[in-house]
Amino acid sequence: MNEKLWTAVDEYITEMLLPADAALEAALEASNAAGLPPIAVTPAQGKFLQLLARLQGARRVLEIGTLGGYSTIWLARALPADGKLVTLEVNPQFARIARENILRAGLDAIVDLRLGSALETLPQLGAEGHGAFDFIFIDADKQNIPKYFEFACQLSRTGSLIIVDNVVRDGRVIDAKSHDPDIQGIRRFNQLLSLKQGICATAIQTVGAKGYDGFAIVLMTG
Ligand code: SAH
Ligand code: DHB
Ligand code: MG
Repeated sequence: MNEKLWTAVDEYITEMLLPADAALEAALEASNAAGLPPIAVTPAQGKFLQLLARLQGARRVLEIGTLGGYSTIWLARALPADGKLVTLEVNPQFARIARENILRAGLDAIVDLRLGSALETLPQLGAEGHGAFDFIFIDADKQNIPKYFEFACQLSRTGSLIIVDNVVRDGRVIDAKSHDPDIQGIRRFNQLLSLKQGICATAIQTVGAKGYDGFAIVLMTG
C-alpha cells in the first residue's frame, strides 16, 4: 500500500463519480498558475464536504481557510440560492485568486470572503449577530485549531456540524513528544474534544491524492 496506489484509486473514483466541472478545474488551474500551494481538498473530498453540507440541509456555512476557493466552491454549491457562505483568509494574494475563482463559478452572491486573520475576523463575525452557522469547515493554520474550534462552537447551534481538516498528518498526530506546532495544535484540539460536553465526535483517517491525513467530524448535540 503506497501513495501511488492511493492516488491512482483517487483518480479512478474521480473519473467514475465526479463529472468534469469547468469552474472547479479553472479554479485549480488559476491557483496553480498563481503559485498557490497545492493543498486544497481533493475532488473526492470536496464532494464529501458538499454531501455533508447537503445532508445537513445547510443554509449558512462558515469556512476558515479559503486558499484559492476550491473547497469554497464545493460547499457553496450545496446551498440554496438565498444561502450564505462566509470564508476567512489571511493572505491577500490567495484571497484575490479565490475571489476570481468564486466569481467565475457564479457564486459571488452566495460567498462572502473576509480578508484578515481568522483570529480577528471570527470575533467580528460573532459581534455581527447574524445567527448560527449550520456547517463549519476549519481548514486554516493547524496550531490555532483549538481556538478556531472554540469560535466555531460559539457560532453554532444544537444540530450544527463542524468538520476539521488535516487532523492525522501522516499519523504524526500520535506523537505526543512532537515539537511541530501543527501537531501540538491538533493534539490540544483532541484533548478539548475529549473533555467537551454536548457534542458527538469522531475522526476518520483518509488516504488519496493528498497522502495520508484525516477529518474530525463534530455534531453539536446540546
Ligand atoms: N480550504 C482550502 C484550503 C485551505 S489551505 C481548500 O481546501 O481549497 C489553508 C489556508 O488557511 C491558506 O490559504 C492560509 O493562507 C490560510 N490561513 C492560515 N492562517 C490563517 C489565519 N490566521 N486566518 C485565516 N486564514 C489563514
Ligand atoms: C496543509 C494545509 C492544509 O489545509 C492541507 O489540507 C494540507 C496541508 C499544510 O499547510 O501543509
Ligand atoms: Mg486542509
